[in-house]
Amino acid sequence: MQEVKKKKEIARVISQREIAEGVFDMWIETSIAKQAKAGQFISVYPNNQSTLLPRPISICMADDEKLRIVYRIAGKGTTEFSSYRSEDEITVLGTLGNGYDLSKADDKTVCLLGGGIGIPPMLQLAKCLKERGKAKRIVCILGYRDNSLFLKEEFDQYADVYVATEDGSAGTKGNVMDVIKSEGIDIDVMMSCGPMPMLRAIKAYADEKNIPAYISLEERMACGVGACLGCIVKTKEKDHHSHVNNARICTDGPVFLASDLDM
Ligand code: FES
Repeated sequence: MQEVKKKKEIARVISQREIAEGVFDMWIETSIAKQAKAGQFISVYPNNQSTLLPRPISICMADDEKLRIVYRIAGKGTTEFSSYRSEDEITVLGTLGNGYDLSKADDKTVCLLGGGIGIPPMLQLAKCLKERGKAKRIVCILGYRDNSLFLKEEFDQYADVYVATEDGSAGTKGNVMDVIKSEGIDIDVMMSCGPMPMLRAIKAYADEKNIPAYISLEERMACGVGACLGCIVKTKEKDHHSHVNNARICTDGPVFLASDLDM
């Protein structure tokens, strides 16, 4: 596969709105959008100079020169981003990370599992898998805290969608794994993004069923550009170059085959 170069450029904000408490949906115009693969991310640079490091944010949708990010406010940088309005300019770097290999779902029942702010990258993945048209069935299980159900309706056009909520206000009460059990869904391959406890549960399930699970560890990233070393994950095999059982999530991932990881 030809490697696409990452670019830093000034993007223009097209629109932004809050779609759940503290969760923002922003469309930007940038040439980076053309090369975006499902599961990749961009780094967004705050204008506030006291917030030096960029913030990695996953790509929720890419359409020609338009790119969509959906993020949760988690500090100064993302608070600043949430104040941007149409026509404002932001500096972005991307695309970053490896993304999901769509061919792994060919002829399979693929289950996409998104938890919390891990839901947005599943939207582009669902769309790309649907457009590829080779998966036997596409199932999405979305895990929310409550019935905010952001983006849920958009998933309906690409997949069979199930919902889990922690408070039981919509769908299955519990987490995404509870849906698999209660609905008796038969799965050949899993692709997911979400908090670590959820990803650990997915890895355990995949190990038990002996099926592949591709997990995105993007919640574990900090700077997103290889500068902070705050994103190391333990691997089963030694890295060929460094000869240690480590991988950097922001540069080697964020998507990994769960069975390659020691987590
Ligand atoms: Fe900073 Fe990977 S997130 S080095």
